[in-house]
Amino acid sequence: MQLSRRAQRIEPFYVMEMAKRAQEVARQSKDSGTPMIYLNIGEPDFGAPPLVQEAAERAIRAGRTQYTQAPGLPELRERISGWYAQRFGVDVPARRIIVTAGASAALQLACLALINEGDEVLMPDPSYPCNRHFVSAAEGKPVLIPSSAAERFQLSAGKVQAAWSERTRGVMLASPSNPTGTSIAPDELRRIHEVVRSKGGLTLIDEIYLGLSYEEQFGHTALQLGEDIISINSFSKYFNMTGWRLGWMVVPEALVKPIEMLAQHLFICASTVSQYAALACFEPESIAEYERRRAEFKARRDYFIPALDALGLPVPVKPDGAFYAWADCRAAADRLGVQGSWDFAYALMDRAHLAITPGRDFGAFETADFVRFSTANSMEQLQEAIARLKRLLA
Ligand SMILES: Cc1ncc(COP(=O)(O)O)c(C=O)c1O
Repeated sequence: MQLSRRAQRIEPFYVMEMAKRAQEVARQSKDSGTPMIYLNIGEPDFGAPPLVQEAAERAIRAGRTQYTQAPGLPELRERISGWYAQRFGVDVPARRIIVTAGASAALQLACLALINEGDEVLMPDPSYPCNRHFVSAAEGKPVLIPSSAAERFQLSAGKVQAAWSERTRGVMLASPSNPTGTSIAPDELRRIHEVVRSKGGLTLIDEIYLGLSYEEQFGHTALQLGEDIISINSFSKYFNMTGWRLGWMVVPEALVKPIEMLAQHLFICASTVSQYAALACFEPESIAEYERRRAEFKARRDYFIPALDALGLPVPVKPDGAFYAWADCRAAADRLGVQGSWDFAYALMDRAHLAITPGRDFGAFETADFVRFSTANSMEQLQEAIARLKRLLA
């Protein structure tokens, strides 16, 4: 079978490969008394709250299951606009909001609408693995810029300036980031955007974890920097609706029509049932539940990060959002007699029935030294994970 060059460039998504392997190990060791603990996938352990589930049931019973307009239900776009006003104090008109099949579809639409063959897109290393592939599938070239703990694992204006070439089309950021849970400092973000603007480029920022922000200084949307920002968002994380496949993007006025046309052809629309259900996300009762859960995610972070530190798995920058711990595993790997985060992750899976993600997925810069723990699991499971690590590393 002759595959396209595009398909040949695709690397495995190791998070998903690891998840398959963890399930196999879990099956084989079913009766071992130590069931697998999954700290590998970045997926809230909570489901959609009751009002959202009921809204989905009502939509199905009422037969509201035909296609919607490609940019989404007008009412949902209005509710999202209202959420920006209420929560972030920014005015984002509904007409600039396009509802998509998850942030994943929004990222694809943005890349397909904006990138030409050979265009370079700057992004931090480490960063969300799929971004490289979205750019590359649009025939662009992802340029990964090593980003250290001192930079909160994010791009800086200086580095963007230095890396900008004639082929550079823009930057792809995520704040808070996956895998580090760290945000770009607001002043730095403003400076990055100024550099990009001065070059006539594009600032695309993935704000999928912004709802799960725990520090006031970081909890603001980049949309306040101007109407030229492209912001990606989703119902997957803060709204706990991963499998419902629903997200959105906010785009500059001039992009609305081109993106709408692309969406018509590529997706027709996002899931209609999910869109009707998502209307209920913004009811005060649902928001109160989401805020309770956000507090729970924060409590897990506050327990887990110091506990890892105490075990010799330091997390160099405290995450200010999301549900990840990006931990330096060099000393711990030494103690287990293995080398590198890949073997360390397998050692934890085999010897402690603990599934985590090795750094490899997220780039090349120091990623052999780091592993990602997802804290999107119950406090009991996190405590048990720490107890197992303690025994293993003793
Ligand atoms: C940074 C980031 N962007 C996008 C996505 C994709 O999310 P969605 O489920 O909305 O497609 C993820 C999923 O983990 C993510 O971590």
